[in-house]
Amino acid sequence: MNATLRQFKVFEMVARHLSFTRAADELFLTQPAVSMQIKQLEDNLGLVLFERLGRKIYLTDAGKEIYRLSRDITAKLEETAAIIDEIKGSDGGHLIVSVASTVQYFAIRLLAGFRQNYPKVNVSLKVTNHKNLLYSLDQNETDIVLMGKPPENHDLKYEFLLDNPLVVIAPFDHPLRGQKNISLRTLQDHTFLMREQGSGTRTSAERFFSENGISISASMEMNNNSAIKLGVEAGLGLGIVSNHTIDAEVESGRLVVLDIEAFPLMRKWYMVRREGKRLSAVGNAFEEFVRAEKQRFVRLARES
Ligand code: PGA
Repeated sequence: MNATLRQFKVFEMVARHLSFTRAADELFLTQPAVSMQIKQLEDNLGLVLFERLGRKIYLTDAGKEIYRLSRDITAKLEETAAIIDEIKGSDGGHLIVSVASTVQYFAIRLLAGFRQNYPKVNVSLKVTNHKNLLYSLDQNETDIVLMGKPPENHDLKYEFLLDNPLVVIAPFDHPLRGQKNISLRTLQDHTFLMREQGSGTRTSAERFFSENGISISASMEMNNNSAIKLGVEAGLGLGIVSNHTIDAEVESGRLVVLDIEAFPLMRKWYMVRREGKRLSAVGNAFEEFVRAEKQRFVRLARES
């Protein structure tokens, strides 16, 4: 059998989305390149993997069977690549780090520090929300994740990293600025810019308000932390963000943190990976670096 790892990866992506276009987008390939890889895989295996009915494609029975097996095959081949990396030493190699949107400021500083020690390492950083991070872990698409607490039943290994206090922010000229111990009820008179469904920040805030019988209204939804800060600054509503991400705006007078009773809400950040995943030497070196340097880099991110 002459099938390659690349052909299996392309096949998995097409099979997952049942779309050549979406697979091409996710793999940063052109659609003809994706079709070519699938054609070559079908020729190598001597099997037809997809059938086209109208505008849609479907997995054939053989395709379904190969899809089930291909996830194990790619995981094993990736493990082999990681071991080869390890044998060669930890100064080169590739590392995929994924982080929650709230963690990105801290993570970018951290990666810059790590690259000073390991300049040959090729790092991919993916920034997304809590729900998508769990999906990437589940699909074995990432090595290490920095995020809020993952649920218990996902076969994940995680360790505490840092506290992540969530605060309510407002534009500098907001009428609640300077008031002390503002009641939660007062928040019902204001609108909020909310993070998207799937954000850990949003889930915690919603849970907290519902436990306290407070119903807050959302004026708009935005899918990352920086957009929330800009929107609050522009007067679109109040926002709930990690206190680690707003020092520059608070210092320059663009945003204020409101003194709300029971705030900050305490969340935590964790370093997470799949249970049983074998990290490359680079991955292990990165984990060690995070453990040793996290306090220094959270301070640096806050000062920038
Ligand atoms: P998020 O980050 O709000 O960007 O999802 C926090 C988390 O992982 O809980």
